[in-house]
Amino acid sequence: MKKIIALVKGDGSAPEMMEQATKIAIKAAEKNNIGIEFVETPMGWNAYEKYGDTLPEESLRKATELNILFFGGIGDPEIDKTIGKNHPEMLPESRCLLRIRKEWGLLLNFRPMIFYPQLKHLAKIRPDLIPDDRIIRQIFVRFLLEDSYFGNIDLRDFIPETTRTNLNIKLKKDITGEETIVSDIAYYRKDTIEKYLRAAFRYARQTNLPLISIDKANVIARYVLWRKTCERMGKDVFPDVELRHIYVDAGNMLLFNPARLNGVIVCGNEHGDILSDGAAEAVGSLGMMCSSAINPDTNQAMFESGAGTAPTLAGQDKANPIGRILTAAMMLRHIGAEKGASAIENSVFKILSEGCRTADIASSKGSGLNMYEYVVTTSHMGDLILENLDL
Ligand code: IPM
Ligand code: MG
Repeated sequence: MKKIIALVKGDGSAPEMMEQATKIAIKAAEKNNIGIEFVETPMGWNAYEKYGDTLPEESLRKATELNILFFGGIGDPEIDKTIGKNHPEMLPESRCLLRIRKEWGLLLNFRPMIFYPQLKHLAKIRPDLIPDDRIIRQIFVRFLLEDSYFGNIDLRDFIPETTRTNLNIKLKKDITGEETIVSDIAYYRKDTIEKYLRAAFRYARQTNLPLISIDKANVIARYVLWRKTCERMGKDVFPDVELRHIYVDAGNMLLFNPARLNGVIVCGNEHGDILSDGAAEAVGSLGMMCSSAINPDTNQAMFESGAGTAPTLAGQDKANPIGRILTAAMMLRHIGAEKGASAIENSVFKILSEGCRTADIASSKGSGLNMYEYVVTTSHMGDLILENLDL
């Protein structure tokens, strides 16, 4: 079988990392007799340089036609300050990432936290709280639509012009910095929440994990709806799934005690953005995080590690490609290449066990390494993971 996948190489160090991730994905998918072909659909500041647009229409059209996108990551804080200052509508995070999430209806954002005992020096949690196996204990399933991210865009047409003016409800690109008040609308729709929670409950049932719901129902109205929906669905449809509720502030505290957060974790768009970075750093490093965004109705999907583009390392062959490579494993699983996905995950585990590190994940970043550790480049890391796919 052949599978064509849209590819955004991205900005900063992303192309270097994606070169490794794509070659590994192609080789690993062969285990399931799937021939992957990547079609480049440029987005980000690199696309602006070539085509005058951070989201060229043709790239979006092609990616949408293929329904599946492997996304290297876009953005560069320096260019944001220069070109972005004069062309705020081109800022790639909103223009590309948020637009694709919205247009494709990417409701579910899977961010499994993986603890690697080999990298326990990176964990920010107390050593006695670190589990001694590598079972994924926290699977974040972030609600990726609506909320404060999309309220102003989604509800614009429903709000009279006078109300908009009075509350100064603006889109990000229209903010001048001179305003005395600016409002964001944050909202959840019953239907969307139900669809989201149903998918997460099913996933919890399938993985035999509790469903942990994070909210702020003590203060914020949309989270009262969230919690009531969760309770009703748990009682009526998923009585066999253990359901727990945690307020977001307490959930944040529990990131440092990960055993208390074992489960499928459902959380709002904004809360999930914040908590997932914290969780990744608590158990290891953000550079190791993998992430996928899925529309449960159409199966449209985007695979993006969620880590940054490391612009300061660009062109130096130094950035850590593992987050992207593990994201490629998620992508393979999505297209039915289960053997390939496991091969990637096992190879990463083996390579780490053998002491191979990029500089950011070495025990003391270059000096005084543990005896068995050695630091490699981005491409060398990719080569080693590729070579060990067969185990
Ligand atoms: C993430 C990122 C994005 C988000 C940004 C880049 C828009 O931080 O995927 O977590 O806030 O969702
Ligand atoms: Mg984030």
